[in-house]
Amino acid sequence: MRLMQRQLNLLMENKIYLYGASGHCKVVMTILLANQEKITAIIDDNPKTKELLAVPVIHSTEFVAENNQKLIVSIGNNEIRKKIVNKIKGNFHTAIHPKAIVSLFSKVKEGSMVMAGAIINVDAVVGKHCIVNTGAIIEHDCVIEDYVHLSPNATLSGNVVVKEGAHIGVGACVIQGVTIGKWAIIGAGTVIIRDVPDYAVVVGNPGRVIKSKKIIDNE
Ligand SMILES: CC(C)(COP(=O)(O)OP(=O)(O)OC[C@H]1O[C@@H](n2cnc3c(N)ncnc32)[C@H](O)[C@@H]1OP(=O)(O)O)[C@@H](O)C(=O)NCCC(=O)NCCS
Repeated sequence: MRLMQRQLNLLMENKIYLYGASGHCKVVMTILLANQEKITAIIDDNPKTKELLAVPVIHSTEFVAENNQKLIVSIGNNEIRKKIVNKIKGNFHTAIHPKAIVSLFSKVKEGSMVMAGAIINVDAVVGKHCIVNTGAIIEHDCVIEDYVHLSPNATLSGNVVVKEGAHIGVGACVIQGVTIGKWAIIGAGTVIIRDVPDYAVVVGNPGRVIKSKKIIDNE
């Protein structure tokens, strides 16, 4: 009983805030709820949004930084997520769904979110503020840099490198050993069989570059 009380106290000590009251935020909330972590509030500057799944939404000007706070930037768009992270600078929290399979020999860095059914296999590294979405698979020895988003059911074979900010679309698959360039976008269902240049937008099977994304300005 005393142990349970201590665990409850621990839960209450840390105040967890999410930034961005989006649909993606609701999925992050379900991870925290599944882990019995209490969400104090969600920060969002849309004056129309007052609550999300019964959690209060506060304006960024109402947010006062304290040491015992933990933050997750719950915004799906990689560029916006990076901008917010650079703006708020906090103690970032990592959310891993209890039904994700994460190898003890892998690493998931701060601010990242791993949804239900995702698999991160042995010796894979997931950078900061990444999204490993529902059912995505990161095979052995992959290196995922910061601000990457792996959409639902995207699959990376072994030894794939995904550079900063790249977005791998829903159901896309990448063969072993390939490097995906920074801020590249891989379309839904695309099959990647060779390296992808930085900023490229790639679609189809086999994947072909259809255009280059405008270079982001917040590096
Ligand atoms: C790749 C993508 C970003 C391109 O979007 P866009 O820049 O708006 O491009 P368009 O829709 O104008 O399409 C450009 C061309 O590529 C084709 N195309 C777009 N997406 C494609 C895809 N996933 N597979 C095959 N072809 C695709 C279009 O048919 C079009 O071909 P056309 O010029 O012959 O008509 C988008 O289609 C996509 O797949 N996004 C991924 C979405 C996703 O996975 N979301 C998950 C959220 S969790």
